[in-house]
Amino acid sequence: MEEEGLIELTEQKPKISAEHILKIVPVNQLVLFPHNVIPITFGKEITPANVDEYLKPGGRVGVVAFRAPHTELRKNTTPSEVLHSVGTEAKVLKVIRFPDNTYGAVIQGRRRFHILDFVDQDSDVLFLSASVSIWEDSPQDMEKVEILALGRAMKQLVQKAIALSPNIPSEAALFIENVHDTLYLADLIVPYLSIDFKDRQELLEIDDIELRLRKIHFFLTKEIEILEISKKINTDVKTEVSKQQRKYFVREQMRVLQKELGDLDDKPDGSRPGNEPADFKERIDNSKMNAQARDASLRELERMSMMQPGSPEHMVSFTYLNWLLDLPWDVHTQTPIRLKEAQIVLDNDHYGLKKIKKRILEFLAVCALKKSLKGPIILFVGPPGVGKTSLGKSIAKALGRRFARISLGGVRDEAEIRGHRRTYIGSMPGKIVDTIKKTGSFDPVILFDEIDKLAYDGRGDPSSALLEVLDPEQNHNFVDHYLNVPIDLSKVFFIATANSLQTIPPPLRDRMEVIELSSYTMDEKNHIAFDHLLPQVVEEHGLKELVKIHFEKETMNQLIQGYTREAGLRMLKRELAGIVRGIAREVVEQGGSDEPSPTGKKLKKKPLKTKIISPADLRFYLGPKHFNEKKRPFLLPVGVSTGLAWTPVGGDVLFIETAVSAPGTGKFSVTGQLGDVMKESVQTALAYIRSHTDVCGVSVQDMDKKDLHMHFPEGAVKKDGPSAGVAAFLSLVSQFSERPLPSHLAMTGEISLRGEVLPVGGIQEKLLAAHRYGITTVMIPQENEHDLEDIPADVLKEMRVVLIKDVKDALKVAFSTKVNTTPQKSSPAAKKASSQKVASQKTKTVSKKAPLKKGTRR
Ligand SMILES: Nc1ncnc2c1ncn2[C@@H]1O[C@H](COP(=O)(O)OP(=O)(O)OP(=O)(O)O)[C@@H](O)[C@H]1O
Ligand SMILES: [Mg+2]
Repeated sequence: MEEEGLIELTEQKPKISAEHILKIVPVNQLVLFPHNVIPITFGKEITPANVDEYLKPGGRVGVVAFRAPHTELRKNTTPSEVLHSVGTEAKVLKVIRFPDNTYGAVIQGRRRFHILDFVDQDSDVLFLSASVSIWEDSPQDMEKVEILALGRAMKQLVQKAIALSPNIPSEAALFIENVHDTLYLADLIVPYLSIDFKDRQELLEIDDIELRLRKIHFFLTKEIEILEISKKINTDVKTEVSKQQRKYFVREQMRVLQKELGDLDDKPDGSRPGNEPADFKERIDNSKMNAQARDASLRELERMSMMQPGSPEHMVSFTYLNWLLDLPWDVHTQTPIRLKEAQIVLDNDHYGLKKIKKRILEFLAVCALKKSLKGPIILFVGPPGVGKTSLGKSIAKALGRRFARISLGGVRDEAEIRGHRRTYIGSMPGKIVDTIKKTGSFDPVILFDEIDKLAYDGRGDPSSALLEVLDPEQNHNFVDHYLNVPIDLSKVFFIATANSLQTIPPPLRDRMEVIELSSYTMDEKNHIAFDHLLPQVVEEHGLKELVKIHFEKETMNQLIQGYTREAGLRMLKRELAGIVRGIAREVVEQGGSDEPSPTGKKLKKKPLKTKIISPADLRFYLGPKHFNEKKRPFLLPVGVSTGLAWTPVGGDVLFIETAVSAPGTGKFSVTGQLGDVMKESVQTALAYIRSHTDVCGVSVQDMDKKDLHMHFPEGAVKKDGPSAGVAAFLSLVSQFSERPLPSHLAMTGEISLRGEVLPVGGIQEKLLAAHRYGITTVMIPQENEHDLEDIPADVLKEMRVVLIKDVKDALKVAFSTKVNTTPQKSSPAAKKASSQKVASQKTKTVSKKAPLKKGTRR
């Protein structure tokens, strides 16, 4: 076989179009473009004679594609029907004979042609002959601007495509750069486009050059897009695969190292029961935790399985996983709220507190109706020992839920509530999560005790964490820093307690429904002591089955008055416990318990004894009285008045002393840790006296000759507020007029420069304190009349409450003097005040049936 040049790279195009006769080679699903070199194969039907005749190297054939795939030429087929009418003239470059005696050839496309007619149809089906017209592209068109532009754009795209295709050698770019014939370039690249047979044939057939180039440009752009995307996919896949491989490799290495290390630590059988990753996996699978927690635990488990057991990091992961797994995810003890039962529980546990219990039951009723706890949180406010914490416990009992108390006193770090971030060994969840775990249910009653004693410093504000916990809108997604997965607190029943509202941050206070508890009266304390405290204490000391302790009523009275002085019941309970301890000792000494005797013999249990405690026994068990009942003289020393104060631990009686020294210059000083407001109210009182000397029964000259010192005892306690105005006024008047005040009289109220008595807060606590101290007459501002509604009837029965509107009323009650309303003319201050004539008001004494008026409280 003869060999010729392999590829003919010609840019010359024949200039003339002529009719030719060409041997046609039909092909299936293949389009040959000019300048392209392709191999074709023939079937067995081609004989060496045929090859000699038609397929001589250097000879020419016409390549034409069948219209439909898998078509063959048969004797009776009409070639024009099955073949496309446009084909490509090709030069035979090489003929190959295969070992099975079939032939193939390498041919190169030259020019497009159009079949005019088939000749000698019947003579040879294999090699049809056709008359064709060779097709020339017009060289004038090539100078058109559009064509030039298209040519340039196409070239750039081809360069880009070469850069993007990993399989095309970079030399191709150089070759393309040197091609200056746009049509040649176009025909050269079409076979490389990812287009189907139909599009290829169409590109072959388009005779309008511009249209053909535009189409190729379009396909080329699409091709580049595809190349770009596939390149991205390739790199993504590559990085992913290499990451996976790396991970796998490193993990395998670790596994082998760990195994080696582990072999040294492990038990002989290599097991660590319960702590294996598989055990954790099983626990996680069986746990009812939420989706986020599950994801977090699985992640942590994966991390942990790569760590060296026993290493600090392993410990951290281990502890964390245990925390997540130990939370009582699906435990809810809640039973439906039954108001009747709740009421019974509350009544059994607490004496009195009618209003409070009513509010609690109303609150529970709303919860039952809404079937949710969304709403304000209950906040019990009141002095120590009045039952705030124990009411919380009762509510839990009434609801059939578990109870836990979180003491917030002194909590200064947000992390105590919300946990520490898991960045160091020893970090722990906060109190909330800890409590949930301890109660073992996700709907316990949690009592935030002493919420008013949260401390603040630089380490994050604990109240902001509480805000989130207590906000029903947010707490279903509470995130503890340590766990770092949301947990649902919306089923938890939160209660808070405080001694005072003042120190609770306002946003926190707003989230809560305040229920105020006040001090107990003697009568109430008596009842509670008999019905609750004594049985509790007896039981706590293990005497329930051994003795029956009976207190006489008078004994209890003396115990309360002589041994306790408090708003609540804590001291009383302690003193009762003191007595019971003494009795316990007697019982043991007399052999009344099951305790073995020193000789080793078990003592016989004696029948239940009754032990009566008389007033005289108090001294025996508790020693002398802690608080001696002061035998008050009918009158206090001159210059001393009895004021009433409100403190977070209940009301208190406050003595105000004024002393004068003569000769002096009218100098004035006040001591006793007073706030500015209190100092101002003392000055107001003094100013009033100076301008109303006649009303007060003193003389200005007298006042100017003396130095004045007013003192509020118990200097260690900070005091502020305007409510000591009336008491300071009376103390001053008593001193200047040298008239003593009666000791059974106490007072509270703010005064104005014109002598009006203005309302003050904390009346209930103040009156109960006065009552405890044996005061029998109390003056309170007229405008506080509505506060009397809350005062127990037994207190009002034993105490006269006088409503005053003006200091003249106070003078009248205090000194039982007739009030002179004519202002003094000599003093300039008096002159000024005379323009505001103040009429004396009739004092009003209130019995227990005082008319009730609603109004604002402190
Ligand atoms: N109304 C009551 N009936 C029966 N027992 C009561 C009543 N009020 C209080 N107690 C008892 O008094 C004791 C002290 O009450 P508790 O501890 O609840 O006081 P608290 O208001 O929480 O005080 P603090 O502010 O100091 O925490 C408890 O033993 C409680 O059972
Ligand atoms: Mg408490």
